Amino acid sequence: MTAVPLSQSPDTCPMRPLLDARAGDLLRVNEPQAVREVLRRVENFAPDNALTAVTPLGPDALRRLARARFALPPVLASASGPEHRRVRRVVARFLTPAQVEAVRPLVVELTHERVDAARRELADGRAVDLAETVSAHVAPAVFGHLVGLAMPSTPVLHRWSRHSLELFWGYPDPQRQVDLADSAAELFAWLTDAVHTRAPGRPSLFAALREAGIDEPRLRSLAFFLLIGGQETTAMLTDIALHEALTSGAWRSIAQSPQGPASEAEQLVRRMLTTTSSVPTWRRIAVRDTTIGGRAVAAGTPVLVELCRHDRGDIDDSLAFGFGVHRCLGARLAPLEASTVLAETAAGLPEVVPAGPAPDWLRLLSFQAPRTVLVRRRSEPVGQGGSR
Ligand code: HEM
Repeated sequence: MTAVPLSQSPDTCPMRPLLDARAGDLLRVNEPQAVREVLRRVENFAPDNALTAVTPLGPDALRRLARARFALPPVLASASGPEHRRVRRVVARFLTPAQVEAVRPLVVELTHERVDAARRELADGRAVDLAETVSAHVAPAVFGHLVGLAMPSTPVLHRWSRHSLELFWGYPDPQRQVDLADSAAELFAWLTDAVHTRAPGRPSLFAALREAGIDEPRLRSLAFFLLIGGQETTAMLTDIALHEALTSGAWRSIAQSPQGPASEAEQLVRRMLTTTSSVPTWRRIAVRDTTIGGRAVAAGTPVLVELCRHDRGDIDDSLAFGFGVHRCLGARLAPLEASTVLAETAAGLPEVVPAGPAPDWLRLLSFQAPRTVLVRRRSEPVGQGGSR
C-alpha cells in the first residue's frame, strides 16, 4: 500500500468552519487518493455508520421514534457483502443509463411548468424563490416516476426531508430533536403504507425488492434512505447550481448560449460537484485495527471522507458520488436533472437577477445548500431572445 497524506492544502472549503468546530472524534480524510483508498477498502472501512445520528439522540427523541416503530436496519448504503450486492442489483435495474436518459423530457416538461408559475409571480412584481417554486418540485416527481412510487405533496416531502437530514446529520439540541423525531416518525408512518402502493402504470421498485426476498423492516429502512437521498440531494444540487449561475454572471450566457443552454449548464453543475456539492462528505467506520496513509487507525474510529476539492484546479467531480462498490446509483441522474433544470430555468427567465441579501446556507455534516434562491425581474430590458 502506498502511503498518502490524509489532507490536501490549501483549503478554501466552505464547510471548513463547521468541520473544524464539529468533526469531533471523526478522522478527517480529504486527500483524493486517500479518500479513494478508504472507500475501496470496505473490509477495513465499512459503511455501518452511514445512517448513524451525528449528534447522539436523547431519551425523549428516542422514545418518540420507538413509539413510531422507527428503525433503520442495515440495508444498501449501510450494508456490506452479499446483502449489499443483492439489494444494489435490484435498485440498479431502476436507474440504468437508458432509464435515466429517458426521463430527460419529463425533467424539461416539469421545469417548464414550474418556470411558468415563477413567471406569473414575477409579473406581479414579487421576488420568487426558485428553490421553492422550481427545483423542489422536479426531483421528487422524477424520483417517483423512476421507482414507481406515488409521492407525497412537495411541501410535505420537503419538510420531512430537511427535518430528517437535520436529525441525522445536524446538531439539534434535545428539544429540537423531539420536534425532528416527530417529523421523522410521520415520514416513517407514511412510507410504511407507501411501499405497498405503486404509481399507476410504472414498475415498482419496492415490489421488486419484496420479490427478491427483502424483508419489510429493511424495505422501510431503504425507503427512508432513498426517499430523501433520491431527491432532496438533487434538489439541493440544483439550488447550488442556480445560485452559482445567478451570482457568477453565468445565467445570461447559459440562457443565450448559441449551442443551446445545456452544455454550459452541465459544465457549471460539474464544477459545483467538484467544489461545493450538496453531499460534500460521507462517513465510514474502521472495523478492525488498520492504517491509512501510513497512519494507525484503531477499530471503531469513525472516518469522514471529504468528496469535494477546493483548490480551484480543473473540474474533477470523480469523487462527488463516492467511489467503489457503494458508489451512488444516482450519479448519472442527479447531474442530468440539475443541469437540465438550470438550463431550462435560465432560458425561460433570462431577465431575472438575485434579489435580497446573500442567502443563508443549510450546512450539516454531509449536506449543504442555499436555503433560498431569491430572484426578481431586472428593472432594465435585457434585449431579444430571452423568453420562451
Ligand atoms: C446531487 C445528488 C446526489 C449526490 C451528491 C449523491 C451522493 C451520494 C454519496 C456520496 C453516496 C455514498 C457513496 C459511498 O458510500 O461510497 C451515495 C449513495 C447512494 N446514492 Fe446518491 N447522491 C445523489 C443523488 C442520488 C439519487 C438521485 C439517487 C437515486 C435516485 C441516489 C441513490 C443512491 C444510492 C442507492 C446510494 C447507495 C449505494 C450503495 O450503497 O450501493 N443518489 N450518494
